[in-house]
Amino acid sequence: MPAPQKSRVIGIKNAKQKSAKQRPAKEQQPKIIEEKSLETRIPPETQQLILNLYRNSFAERLDSDIQPLLQEVKGHLFDRNFKDAFGKEDYLEAYAARWSPSRALGYLGVLWRMRESLDLVQDSEGGADEAEQDLQKSYKIACLGGGAGAEIGTLGGLHRLLSDEHKESRTGSPKDLEVVAVDSAAWGNVVNQLTQHITTPPPVSKYASAAVKAANRPLAEPTAFKTTFHQYDLLTVDSESLAAVLQDANLVTLMFTLNELYSASISLTQQFLIRMTESLAPGAMLLVIDSPGSYSTVTLNGADKNYPMQWLLDHTLLADTSGGKAKEEEPLWEKVQEDDSRWFRLDDRLEYPIELENMRMQLHLYRRI
Ligand SMILES: C[S@@+](CC[C@H](N)C(=O)[O-])C[C@H]1O[C@@H](n2cnc3c(N)ncnc32)[C@H](O)[C@@H]1O
Repeated sequence: MPAPQKSRVIGIKNAKQKSAKQRPAKEQQPKIIEEKSLETRIPPETQQLILNLYRNSFAERLDSDIQPLLQEVKGHLFDRNFKDAFGKEDYLEAYAARWSPSRALGYLGVLWRMRESLDLVQDSEGGADEAEQDLQKSYKIACLGGGAGAEIGTLGGLHRLLSDEHKESRTGSPKDLEVVAVDSAAWGNVVNQLTQHITTPPPVSKYASAAVKAANRPLAEPTAFKTTFHQYDLLTVDSESLAAVLQDANLVTLMFTLNELYSASISLTQQFLIRMTESLAPGAMLLVIDSPGSYSTVTLNGADKNYPMQWLLDHTLLADTSGGKAKEEEPLWEKVQEDDSRWFRLDDRLEYPIELENMRMQLHLYRRI
């Protein structure tokens, strides 16, 4: 089993951090404080294309005064009232226009760096028969808690980066992406709007040069990028529906969602993780990203104890959960990579109509054995 890679981290400056006084008692800050941003290896032009994707998908919303709506959404999120925060179409669009673009760029950096572990490229070498080639050509990603569209923008951008790399170096071509987003809120329109804008060329000025017009192309061709959306609660969805979402998935993502699931119910989340494991084939990858220092409270023998999110996750995925009765049982997951704290910082050259933020994340990549 390959050893988990720990990112080398060396001291962050200019990071907006809460002072120890403001910080909730439960939140323990990881030791890691600074990281050199490797994400900047993605050309700013490609990053700008992704911001443009959100600007074009939510153009009317961004052209109107979006601030009052954002204040209302923020208020509900602050109160942890997710039902209201994600309860109206206006709120969903405003949320996706404001919070998903920077997340999309942050996740793109992460996925771009792990692309070799993810097997996203199809060998250009011949050899496989036609049926096998069709199977190899398609790559299914289940984005759990992924309705808000950050993951959709990331995957559109990833497809573009892979196809640019293919064109430049004649290496393998990107596989067609089949994205299944699952969320408890009604994000179907947001997913559709983003998909439509990923698969059509962005608007270009009628005064643009012929060369610019000729080079204008979508992030991905419609045949190479398909999405579906299911409104399911991951903690209570029936096993058949969950299995159908996960069947043949190459990658499952849980981005800023797992800690929300743990906060709702640790035992239901553990059951969900076990059901997810049962539905995935060996080789499938699981990527979990969340805020660093996320804790959940477990009550044991009447006493409350705080457990870090990643501890609970490792406990369910990697530990022998048979209580020692079946020591010969093989583990079902191996950890491929982990990082307790990583910053994503926006490039100063990028433009967007409203303010976006840098983000900090912990990440964990597992492979189903
Ligand atoms: C903080 S948002 C993160 C959104 C997106 N993944 C991202 O990274 O920007 C958490 C998402 O998880 C969804 N969610 C929370 N609990 C859920 C559940 N039990 N089942 C399905 N989705 C859930 C919310 O509706 C919301 O879209």
